Amino acid sequence: MTDDRPRTLARAQTSRGELALRVRDGLQGPVHELIVAGVFAMDDAEMSTEIELARAGLTGCANPRRVLVGGLGLGHTTLAVLADERVVSVTVVEIEDTLVAWAREGLVPTLTRVAADPRVHLVAADVGDHLGAEGAAYDAILLDVDNGPSFLVHQHNAGLYAETSLRAMLRRVAPGGILAIWAAQLEPGLLARLTLLAAGDPGVTVEERVLPIEREGRSFDYAIYVVSRIDQ
Ligand SMILES: C[S@@+](CC[C@H](N)C(=O)[O-])C[C@H]1O[C@@H](n2cnc3c(N)ncnc32)[C@H](O)[C@@H]1O
Repeated sequence: MTDDRPRTLARAQTSRGELALRVRDGLQGPVHELIVAGVFAMDDAEMSTEIELARAGLTGCANPRRVLVGGLGLGHTTLAVLADERVVSVTVVEIEDTLVAWAREGLVPTLTRVAADPRVHLVAADVGDHLGAEGAAYDAILLDVDNGPSFLVHQHNAGLYAETSLRAMLRRVAPGGILAIWAAQLEPGLLARLTLLAAGDPGVTVEERVLPIEREGRSFDYAIYVVSRIDQ
């Protein structure tokens, strides 16, 4: 008999609202939950699309040495990146500095593994600010910070999916590299902006990958938008 009531491991109020880590018993073991801005953000009962985001980045570029992951969450995308031995460094940019601190405290095994890997640089910042600044290029930029522009948890993330930010992010992608953006539903507006961007740059291609998912007896279409910078 499992107890599916979540127990709180850590809780804090941040400028964006309640942040919490919780755990409940699942049929296959403990299931961790993350609450951000007072809203249920994710659990790790079904992680296939978070892992697929990593796969899209790693298979999409010839030599994924330097990777950026936007949004730590429960660390699953980052762990899938770290499983690839070609990866030399992973910069994980997370807006909630408290979540970064909890990762270092060992509250959740997946976060502990992320924080302990010497290739990982945990940065407490807004990923839009980080990528909008001058800095080194990445072979893969993997963005999973929100549900997508049509269904935001953090309203201030709207700007991330706007043309100016998308251009700035693409400037930080190395030749032959990739920008991959996860969404919890199809995002025709985002696809249109990326397609427009690619139309103005012969070295850039865009692809929408639809990921059908079953969760609690319901079907959903998640998506990953893959923007590739052709090696010239
Ligand atoms: C759904 S979770 C990411 C899940 C992650 N892919 C995984 O596999 O566990 C989204 C994360 O992005 C963070 N976040 C939200 N907006 C952000 C921003 N603008 N910059 C950086 N991190 C952000 C949230 O605090 C949260 O930790």
